[in-house]
Amino acid sequence: MIANADIKIEKTAHSRVGEYDVNNVPFGKCFSDHMFIAEYADGKWGKLTITPYRDVPMSYAMSALHYGQAIFEGMKAYKSESGEVSVFRPIDNFNRMNKSAIRMAMPEVPEEIFMGGLLELLKLDLAWVPTSETGSLYIRPFLIATDEAIGVKPSDTYKFVIITCPAGKYYSEPIKVLIETNYIRAVQGGVGFVKAAGNYGRSLYPTKLAQQKGYQQVIWTDGATHSYLEESGTMNLMFVIGNSVVTPALSDTILDGITRRSVLALARDWGMNVEERKISIQEILDAHAKGEIKEAFGVGTAATIAPIIGIGYKEDYMELPPVAERKFSNKVDETLRGIRKGKLEDKMGWMYKVK
Ligand SMILES: Cc1ncc(COP(=O)(O)O)c(C=O)c1O
Repeated sequence: MIANADIKIEKTAHSRVGEYDVNNVPFGKCFSDHMFIAEYADGKWGKLTITPYRDVPMSYAMSALHYGQAIFEGMKAYKSESGEVSVFRPIDNFNRMNKSAIRMAMPEVPEEIFMGGLLELLKLDLAWVPTSETGSLYIRPFLIATDEAIGVKPSDTYKFVIITCPAGKYYSEPIKVLIETNYIRAVQGGVGFVKAAGNYGRSLYPTKLAQQKGYQQVIWTDGATHSYLEESGTMNLMFVIGNSVVTPALSDTILDGITRRSVLALARDWGMNVEERKISIQEILDAHAKGEIKEAFGVGTAATIAPIIGIGYKEDYMELPPVAERKFSNKVDETLRGIRKGKLEDKMGWMYKVK
């Protein structure tokens, strides 16, 4: 772990925390007092700083802006009733970040920089972690190519940055999703399995079209045949069909979600049957017609557990059972919240305490 002294810390002279009700702010718009920056140049990681959150001068020629050599992560810190702050599975995010870095020809971030920077940053901004039942501090680590150069090649310089913002519920209501059979999020051999910035920019137009039809999100289908379900927005997708929890198997077009991993671990711990496999649109249409779909929901850090109340496919609409009747996803939601807020025992060792 890097020593505190390795990071040059410039504390803010005026905390802005009193200007907000951190338990009641819109997602992703109000940033905490400080940020962490690590700089990479000449083949190695160098300067580490924590400064007040602020704009920084950058060149319009910066390579991340032109060719999308940019990756990111998303995780959350929670405050217990006794005021203790813990981060949910940050090492998993660290590992996934470096998987993304390798695929995007970027330098891997050393664990001591990722974790050391994160912990020092959180210690300064503890007051920004919400105390409400569904509140958390959203943590956004990202790595960007910073060469001032227009040639298409891996950058020689990079910045790894962590910023944070208080967050409440991402979706206020259960969502309706539209199965997308024209546009594609990810293809075999592409970058769908990593958190490359471009994956998200490309998703906005199809999502906008779905929203114009009254849906909140799309369900992406496989790029080759458009007949298998993959993910929904920034969430992995799950169903309870009969007595099984069913979710698309991981592949190079699906992000290996940490919430997905956690939900499946709980399901297995509770003795449920878990199936990670291909799910065709036809299977969902048939199961719905027979009344076998008990639950459908998206899982992800930002949205946590987002119940899906209806699924559109072409001109059809499948209405799903009321949220109150959904035993599994309601229990998972409560259990994850309990573990994160320190009310339930952390049997799996998922919480990383900020000391
Ligand atoms: C495309 C995509 N799928 C799934 C997820 C869920 O992953 P996690 O549970 O790690 O947040 C995310 C969010 O990170 C995502 O961007």
